[in-house]
Amino acid sequence: THYKIAVLPGDGIGKEVIPEGLRVVKAAAQRFGIALELVEFDWASCDYYAQTGSMMPDNWKELLLPMDAIYFGAVGWPAIVADHISLWGSLLKFRREFDQYINLRPAQTFAGVRSPLAGRTAGDIDMLIVRENTEGEYSSVGGIMYEGTENEVVMQQSIFSRRGTERVMKFAFELAKTRARKHVTVATKSNGISISMPWWDARASEVASAYPDISWDKQHIDILCARFVLSPERFDVVVASNLFGDILSDLGPACTGTIGLAPSANLNPERRFPSLFEPVHGSAPDIYGKNIANPVAAIWSGAMMLDFLTNSKGAGHEAHDAILAAIKAVLISGPHTPDLGGKASTTDVGKAIAERLLAS
Ligand code: NAI
Ligand code: MG
Repeated sequence: THYKIAVLPGDGIGKEVIPEGLRVVKAAAQRFGIALELVEFDWASCDYYAQTGSMMPDNWKELLLPMDAIYFGAVGWPAIVADHISLWGSLLKFRREFDQYINLRPAQTFAGVRSPLAGRTAGDIDMLIVRENTEGEYSSVGGIMYEGTENEVVMQQSIFSRRGTERVMKFAFELAKTRARKHVTVATKSNGISISMPWWDARASEVASAYPDISWDKQHIDILCARFVLSPERFDVVVASNLFGDILSDLGPACTGTIGLAPSANLNPERRFPSLFEPVHGSAPDIYGKNIANPVAAIWSGAMMLDFLTNSKGAGHEAHDAILAAIKAVLISGPHTPDLGGKASTTDVGKAIAERLLAS
């Protein structure tokens, strides 16, 4: 078998980190004998919007459907296109139309990376954040009424389906089975959001009853955020709605050191549609063009892609582990990009990780 991968660098530092991700993914594929066909597209970007007036060509779905995975950089260039237009015109279409209902985001402390939380070192923080990725608070149902009058109101609905909620809970509990601590934390806000969140808790409780070997608890999002900072080592698998998961999955990696390390997988676990792998970070207009973005998040996302392609077995799984080992080694030895206190370029770090991988 060979795997077809769509490569969409997108905007800003997406165009700098994806080439380094590809360098490492190609090196790993070569070493572990995985045949990849890479097809690069320049759309899903604000540059494409500037030329055409839309983020993607009309036939984007036809072009991506035959792919086994999508390797994505970042989208957004607020100077050209408002962020809600660029995001809803590309990434959110992928997530929804390809039913990528799981957004899986690991956060770990590594040797060589200073956590902003006092005293935390390698291995202290090791959590997997499972964000619901297709519904919840990110809906387009709502509107503005009586606009421009003193009675003006705006409303936006949150939508939680039984199917959508049960499947994300189930994914989190299945994932916990593969972990040493076997614990699930459910993010909620059932004290304040009095209809949907008690219902969300009830779905968690139902699904949990099918997993007697997995311990679990639920925590309100406000204190949960505080505990991410005060005692992040207590978390294993954390499952959250779309909005809460978005917030937690920036906060978790920030507690480990830099968002430049955080990878993510947007999964359609049933593989009816291609899954998408991307760094958590955005296009970072403030550092774009200097070749100083940290490529580790993109490289790690590439490793997650190889693992997923082969069902976490065989060559893809080995390639994933080898890439992660090379990342860990380079985080200790350097070179380091400026976000980690170093002076190295994006390219230097990508090359160092690829070399480490081939040497090991
Ligand atoms: P951002 O993640 O692009 O940047 C936040 C801060 O982190 C910046 O100071 C940036 O320099 C730094 N940073 C991010 N990635 C880094 C890396 N790899 N190495 C070193 N430093 C890094 O988030 P921001 O500024 O809120 O958004 C900028 C644009 O990106 C917006 O248009 C936004 O909509 C878009 N965005 C896109 C995402 C995606 O495509 N999945 C996710 C988040 C934001
Ligand atoms: Mg975010």
